[in-house]
Amino acid sequence: MTTSEEGRSVRRSLSPETLAAQALGAVDPVSGALVPPIHLSTTYERGPDGAYPSGRAYTRADNPTYDHAEELLATLEAGAGCSLFASGNAAATAVFQSLLPGDHVLVARVLYWGIRKWLAEFGVSWGLDVEFVDTADPVAVAAAIRPGRTRLLWLETPANPTWEITDLAAVVKIAHGADVRVAVDNTVATPVLTRPIELGADLVVHSATKYLNGHSDVLAGAVVTARRDPFWERIRSWRRNAGAVVGPFEAWLLQRGMRTLFLRVRRSSETALTLARHLDEHPGVTTVLYPGLPSHPGHSIAARQMTGGFSGMLSIRIAGGEEQAMAVAAAVRIFKRATSLGGVESLIEARRSVEGPSSSVPGDLLRLSIGLEAPEDLMADLEAALAAVRRPATPDRPRIAEGITGAATADSDLTSAVQAALDRSVTATIIARGGALRVADVGDSVVTLLATGSPGATLPAAGAIEGLVRAAVPEVARVRVVWQAGEPASVPATDDLAARVRSVLDNEVNPAIAAHRGHVALVGAVDGRVQLRLEGGCQGCSLAEVTVRQGIERLLRARFGDIVAVVDVTDHEAGSDPFYTPEKR
Ligand SMILES: Cc1ncc(COP(=O)(O)O)c(C=O)c1O
Repeated sequence: MTTSEEGRSVRRSLSPETLAAQALGAVDPVSGALVPPIHLSTTYERGPDGAYPSGRAYTRADNPTYDHAEELLATLEAGAGCSLFASGNAAATAVFQSLLPGDHVLVARVLYWGIRKWLAEFGVSWGLDVEFVDTADPVAVAAAIRPGRTRLLWLETPANPTWEITDLAAVVKIAHGADVRVAVDNTVATPVLTRPIELGADLVVHSATKYLNGHSDVLAGAVVTARRDPFWERIRSWRRNAGAVVGPFEAWLLQRGMRTLFLRVRRSSETALTLARHLDEHPGVTTVLYPGLPSHPGHSIAARQMTGGFSGMLSIRIAGGEEQAMAVAAAVRIFKRATSLGGVESLIEARRSVEGPSSSVPGDLLRLSIGLEAPEDLMADLEAALAAVRRPATPDRPRIAEGITGAATADSDLTSAVQAALDRSVTATIIARGGALRVADVGDSVVTLLATGSPGATLPAAGAIEGLVRAAVPEVARVRVVWQAGEPASVPATDDLAARVRSVLDNEVNPAIAAHRGHVALVGAVDGRVQLRLEGGCQGCSLAEVTVRQGIERLLRARFGDIVAVVDVTDHEAGSDPFYTPEKR
């Protein structure tokens, strides 16, 4: 490895493209090999004195094969250091978990769904105070910062899957003015198109699974730092102690993938632009979401901020809605129907079908990851798929971001002020957990909010919502959260715990989750131990634990002091998605 000072100064004079092609120009000092060896050893020899002459002790902490890929990526991102992780999510969550409980975190409203899901399920229980904000609007970012409490601003640009653009220099200036760190998920742009650290960002995060590796055969993540400060040491320590590290073979494949990064990203960006322009004229497509098109709201910032292209990712909205979109995805022959992005092969995906019913992505949206195939073959494939699908009579072109944020219709100033306060702070978290909350009524300064979907989505936040709404809208004196329109039915006055629990389930929980085709059954209530079985909807899926522990359990405990435990006895192993009704699949 050329880690010497001389090597570093040669590097400084070379372009990133040259450094990537040669993976920093490494020549193995032992064998003279141009291709670096893979160091598979998990452990390193100690000297007779107990010291580690190589400076290494155990591969969970470090390994020469990681070092090589890390140094290459740090160089490409203009960073001072890099740590590889087991996946993009492991890298992202290492950053969040290096914060402390109580820290306020601003997170872009549009971002990779998996990170939003983790924040909603675990970030909040870790103690983070997560607030979603429109990072494409620097004024909104400035307004959302709580001086002394906000510790991190997290964003993507272009942001998945509608490719909103954030002006990095502008938000970094605002954030740094309040001592807030900025972390940018640069998975989609890659250092080929955007180098956030050069624009002031403190951390860059990657799903290296995507463009960096580029061949759909490695799961890996990375965090790059602008400086080696104590927060960076905490992230390193998290990786070492949590064991969230990648394997040496994956690290080796990653350095190999990065050698062709520039060629791949440029080629897929060129093809994506060609396709975006062509599809923009297509009558079967109502909207093309691609920052390379002048019609995209972030185009002028992208044109200034991104160098050499607008990425290989674009989304299209299909005339006729979700059914037509699914039919187009079903009809392609060259695009592969699969999740992920940034590989050599082009992928197509109805994003909402992956994210599930809580997704705020429109059902008619297809996300395209453009690979390295001939552009004319890809275009012909899409043309044929669009032609094969029956076209509805009069498709209206919606505004570009319409339907993405799911804003409520306001019928009064107070209603819209309350809804705006909710949208600023909690709506995205509730949606990510499978619920929804809207203003049902405002009268005599009392606001009634109607919660639908999973009770586990809204209940944990219910206590905070009143304070939040009253702080934001001083005219509000009281906030009530109800789970069905009108007043809840009264609970029978009886010692029989089963009867009381059944009454709450039947009158409050089950009507609220009926829209998700959910049902919660009481199995028994003996000696204060309530046993529940989840029999449908999202409650049969991975949110079950959240739903029961944070939702139904809290509701029941708040009502009945004689409850000792609430236990989920659902047989989650009974088959694949056993509680999904056929229509829901
Ligand atoms: C922008 C972005 N960040 C992070 C991730 C998570 O990466 P991984 O799947 O490697 O955990 C993804 C995955 O799709 C992504 O698209």
